[in-house]
Amino acid sequence: MAMNKSHAPASQKGVLGMLIDDHREAQKLFKDFKSAEDDRSKEEIVRHACSALTAHTKIEEEHFYPFLREADPETFGSLLDEARVEHASAKELIARLQAMKPADDLYDAHFTVLGEYTNHHITEEEDELFKKVIDKDIDLRELEEPMQDTRRQALSAKPQG
Ligand SMILES: [Fe+2]
Ligand SMILES: [Fe+2]
Repeated sequence: MAMNKSHAPASQKGVLGMLIDDHREAQKLFKDFKSAEDDRSKEEIVRHACSALTAHTKIEEEHFYPFLREADPETFGSLLDEARVEHASAKELIARLQAMKPADDLYDAHFTVLGEYTNHHITEEEDELFKKVIDKDIDLRELEEPMQDTRRQALSAKPQG
């Protein structure tokens, strides 16, 4: 079930809200792709989604995940291990998509599968990981600024390929 960011307490709202907004944006792009009518708009959506997902996985891997692992390895360790494996699969599909053109065989299939992986991963994060963060009352405020900085840098970097 989709998590509503208004459920998070003040010490978590900034960080969880940022991640949840990213999740909703990605889900919207995967949905938009289904109704895209020409190669140009497909390519635009894919480019946007790949750069947004790359920035999102980066801020999670560089800040959010290590912070939780350190805060409570017992509670978060195995969930975070799974999350990293899921990110790795997504990154592989993103790299392949960035080297493809809409006319290529399996272009649509790659993006559709990336959407399925992403939706699965988002559900696990929001239903399990974020829920535990809220239950354990982990104060995330110190992550807000560094996460925003990393996101800005990642989004202004040129995509590869
Ligand atoms: Fe996420
Ligand atoms: Fe993630």
